[in-house]
Amino acid sequence: MLGNKVITTFLVSMLALASLALPLNAAAIDLVTTTDGSPIKIAPELFDTPAAQEFLATGKNPYIGNEDAIKAGKKRFGYYSCTQCHGPEAKGQVGPGLIGPTFRYPKDATNKGMFETIWNGTNGGMGAKGLGLMNPTDPTDGLKPDEVLKIISWIRNEGGNHPSGNE
Ligand code: HEC
Repeated sequence: MLGNKVITTFLVSMLALASLALPLNAAAIDLVTTTDGSPIKIAPELFDTPAAQEFLATGKNPYIGNEDAIKAGKKRFGYYSCTQCHGPEAKGQVGPGLIGPTFRYPKDATNKGMFETIWNGTNGGMGAKGLGLMNPTDPTDGLKPDEVLKIISWIRNEGGNHPSGNE
């Protein structure tokens, strides 16, 4: 009888431990390239803000509709010359418009999909903008995940949040 109780106590504490560990295990969406669907590997420590961590866990962009993030994203969009190809309002220039509701890559209607496209680029003229990928000779060049999320929040805002990418 005592043995049973010990085993039960043991099992209950294992369950408690497992549920504690669960959020850690669950904290990663699978990011894949837009070029060939292979996995995108980003060092976890680059997700260095609460918003970036939430994105990594859920694929949602917490910056959608956030005015400060939208402002910062607009600045980044200009600074990283997105403007030159996509136009100052992201409505298209040399490159396509980005505000939807339809996209060259349908997955870009989601924030996870658009993040993947911006991070790793496409086969049709859009270069990778993720940190370390943008410039092969300078590993410090490129956007951090948090910056990509802010840029996306600005792009979505330009389109009146249709889509918002989080639905
Ligand atoms: C040198 C020109 C150029 C620059 C700079 C550039 N892009 Fe692009 N981008 C393109 C082209 C061309 C495409 C279409 C690619 C294709 O069809 O494969 C594209 C496609 C995209 C798409 C996919 C659109 C869709 O309909 O699915 C997104 C999102 C995007 N760009 C975001 C950005 C962001 C954000 C930046 C700045 C960090 C940026 N681009 C900088 C040329 C550019």
